[in-house]
Amino acid sequence: MHGLYRFVSVALSPAAGFNTRRTELFNPSGCGGGSAATVHPVTCSVDPLSFIRRLPKAELHLHLEGTVTPETLVELSGRHDSVQFGLNEARALFHYADFSGFLLAFKAVTEHLRSADDYELAAWRMAQRLAGQGVVHAEVYVSVGVVYYWRRCEFEPLFLGMERARLRAESELGLTLYWIFDAVRHFGPDEAARVFRKAAEMRPQFPSIVGIGIGGDERRTGAEPFRDLYAEAREAGLRLTAHAGETVGPEGIWGALNIGAERLGHALSAIHDPELMGVLAERQIPLELCVSSNLRTGCCLRPEDHPLRRYFDAGLMVTLNSDDPALFLSDLEHEYRIAQERFAFTQEHLRELASNSIEASFLPAERKVEILRRLESLE
Ligand code: ADE
Ligand code: ZN
Repeated sequence: MHGLYRFVSVALSPAAGFNTRRTELFNPSGCGGGSAATVHPVTCSVDPLSFIRRLPKAELHLHLEGTVTPETLVELSGRHDSVQFGLNEARALFHYADFSGFLLAFKAVTEHLRSADDYELAAWRMAQRLAGQGVVHAEVYVSVGVVYYWRRCEFEPLFLGMERARLRAESELGLTLYWIFDAVRHFGPDEAARVFRKAAEMRPQFPSIVGIGIGGDERRTGAEPFRDLYAEAREAGLRLTAHAGETVGPEGIWGALNIGAERLGHALSAIHDPELMGVLAERQIPLELCVSSNLRTGCCLRPEDHPLRRYFDAGLMVTLNSDDPALFLSDLEHEYRIAQERFAFTQEHLRELASNSIEASFLPAERKVEILRRLESLE
């Protein structure tokens, strides 16, 4: 077991650097695709009884706001705006050319979620789409940091809408949802403190709030300033996640490990640091990989550069995730198909990925065992 982690300073490789060139995405069966400028829900012609869809699986890196489609945005506009905007205007919000532009698009979408009913609608539609892909459990980031910093309003009333959708999803769809309160790292530790302390305060009444995380722009703020806040959150019984090594080199991942993150979002740049690869393998730190996201934001320039398969072969604890499916024209089923068709994962490999998603979740042991049994017996 390693106690302290070294900070390496590695020149950014193309995979971790930035470029505004749009990447041609995988399109295993000619579905989805298009640029971020032409966002459509992913409508793949997948065999509904396909192995991937039937696999009971968890999604562990999914932002509620990033599941809102242009169609839903139009509906939200009809609820609040004196002049409702149309589908083209909604789609225009989804334009971005690089990672910074993506964060602005994410903020723009979030700003259209204004009431508890809006959050309920977004969460319910998300739940329906998840259940349709064979997802049995999801741990969903909600950007409380954006609500506080940009909207300057209370979060609890909005959360009640999410909870209504969660309870409905559980009873009508058999899908369980946990919430992870996400802070925006480049707003700084004081803003993050408000987010994490709200999670700690609400958790006794709402045990569905399982953890906290930091998203946003790693190039502007590393993990270290959040060290004490992470310790405080852990003391409060919250689980710790962090976006790490998405837009910066391996030092961002060391930093997240050093402050106690249990699960890492993206971890794209670990591939450049053999010592870090060794630690991730030895400690079986779950990695929330998001292939389409990395290609769409330009964090990874070419599909063949993505480390998914190399991580898997090196024995790392890999999970597949969709991150912001409406912004990235993907969904979890599509990510599994990418793994299968582009990275040559076999059916047994896919079963292992699904199994990892259950093991790496924050579910209680009994539920994990029950789902893993179903997973193992699936033919
Ligand atoms: N917020 C939503 N999606 C994000 C991502 N991929 N990286 C950082 N912050 C985010
Ligand atoms: Zn994310």
